[in-house]
Amino acid sequence: MGGTTRRGADFLVVANRLPVDLERLDDGTERWRPSPGGLVSALEPFLRSRRAAWVGWSGRADRDLEPFDDDGLQMHPVRLSSAEVRDYYEGFSNGTLWPLYHDVVVPPVFERSWWDSYVEVNQRFADAAAKVAGEGATVWVQDYQLQLVPAMLREQRPDLHIGFFLHIPFPPVELFMQLPWRKEVVRGLLGADVVGFQMPGGAQNFLWLTRQLLGLEPTRAAVRVRSRPGSVPFDGRQVRVGAFPISIDAASFDKLARQPETVERAKEMRSAMGDPQHLLLGVDRLDYTKGIDVRLRALRELLVSGRVDRESVAMVQLATPSRERVDQYKAMRRSIEEQVGRLNGEFGRVGRPIVHYLHQPMDRDELVALYSAADVMVVTPLRDGMNLVCKEYVATRRGLDGVLVLSEFAGAASELTGALLVNPHDLDGVAEALERALTMDPMEKRGRMRTLHRQVMTHDVGRWAKSFLDFLDPATAAAAAAEMA
Ligand code: ADP
Ligand code: G6P
Repeated sequence: MGGTTRRGADFLVVANRLPVDLERLDDGTERWRPSPGGLVSALEPFLRSRRAAWVGWSGRADRDLEPFDDDGLQMHPVRLSSAEVRDYYEGFSNGTLWPLYHDVVVPPVFERSWWDSYVEVNQRFADAAAKVAGEGATVWVQDYQLQLVPAMLREQRPDLHIGFFLHIPFPPVELFMQLPWRKEVVRGLLGADVVGFQMPGGAQNFLWLTRQLLGLEPTRAAVRVRSRPGSVPFDGRQVRVGAFPISIDAASFDKLARQPETVERAKEMRSAMGDPQHLLLGVDRLDYTKGIDVRLRALRELLVSGRVDRESVAMVQLATPSRERVDQYKAMRRSIEEQVGRLNGEFGRVGRPIVHYLHQPMDRDELVALYSAADVMVVTPLRDGMNLVCKEYVATRRGLDGVLVLSEFAGAASELTGALLVNPHDLDGVAEALERALTMDPMEKRGRMRTLHRQVMTHDVGRWAKSFLDFLDPATAAAAAAEMA
């Protein structure tokens, strides 16, 4: 697999974003920097090792960019106009689908012009992929922004092996049914040979919808992670629908955490914060699904009630800027920053804030040093497809120290059972878990972290990709077709 031949790429990823983002600096110059979010973090290391091609947007509007080679990855930029960034990206993708698929944490907006733009942009991505893919190539379409691409691509190129993976949760059917364009989305996804979700529940929901909305006859047996997909006959093909929990390049986090420079930098960071007895850490895109407010409120309760001594604790909250022109994100940012200000106002001292809040992207080395420095990693999303941050933290804990507090509503919770699992809607429960994390005895910490560490190190992103792509393999596809005959 991999390589770009004269006749076109034989392995191609199609995602809304390229793995690099064109950033404009204050002096008017531009540079490429890593794109934000878990999709790119997970896929990039795997693809770089395969010399694949990648079709995606550069992150800037109204720019026509030529294909280019980035360290062995062939990049094929797709142009989005400013209006499309507003309607397709900020609008339908992040104002409609994102909240709808995340349990309607904020109300989704249903707007026809946004849908029209979504259709048009999906067609453009499909056209670009059809041009770049070689005969019989494998094309792997990613995430909620491009759910119509599989069918659009198959229409033009029936020779391709098309996979689709959804990185975010697939919602309960009652919520999905709100979408005015629900049939179109289900048909779009059915253009793939394999449709992958993070969790079996998402796969089951999708299978059910194919029956309910399109009158198809999907399998009824329970879908099992990686090993047993469901399937649904559609258009003379057998579409397979499975659960493939994504992961990280665990070995690279482990390796980086063990570098002497990282160990040194972690010490420096703690000392710059006044060597607190306990260092809590949160790392997220600044998104309303992440429950950043929940953990800040829980910490405040512990400080107000005196269950945690303000002299003993500090917290770092890293919040990567995200979707900054979308209203709900603006409101979220204001409220988080207000909470941080209040906590520091009430409990900080000169030179010793309680919460060190950084609203900026951070280099990988620095991020790993922060993970290494932290005693307690706090991950409290209200809903999250997987959440890679918690896996990254665990991968840096070869010494088996540190505690993970993790929301039950992150996909990762079903694998990371050694974490202190919390319901982020239950403030008392979150506060209790934080207190427990701060007072846990070293034996229990080691025991829990041993289970977590083993799980993360043995289920890395390579294994995830292989488990998905094995199902897309022509030989397996042929077997599925035979099953159908
Ligand atoms: P999402 O995909 O919703 O953003 P994930 O937890 O799955 O959530 O993935 C987030 C990714 O972004 C992780 O790989 C994490 O390391 C990275 N990340 C988060 N915050 C920052 C930051 N401030 N700087 C650099 N990388 C970050
Ligand atoms: C999540 C989504 C990705 C998205 C990323 C960053 O990980 O699943 O598809 O790329 O967030 O969001 P952005 O809107 O900046 O691409």
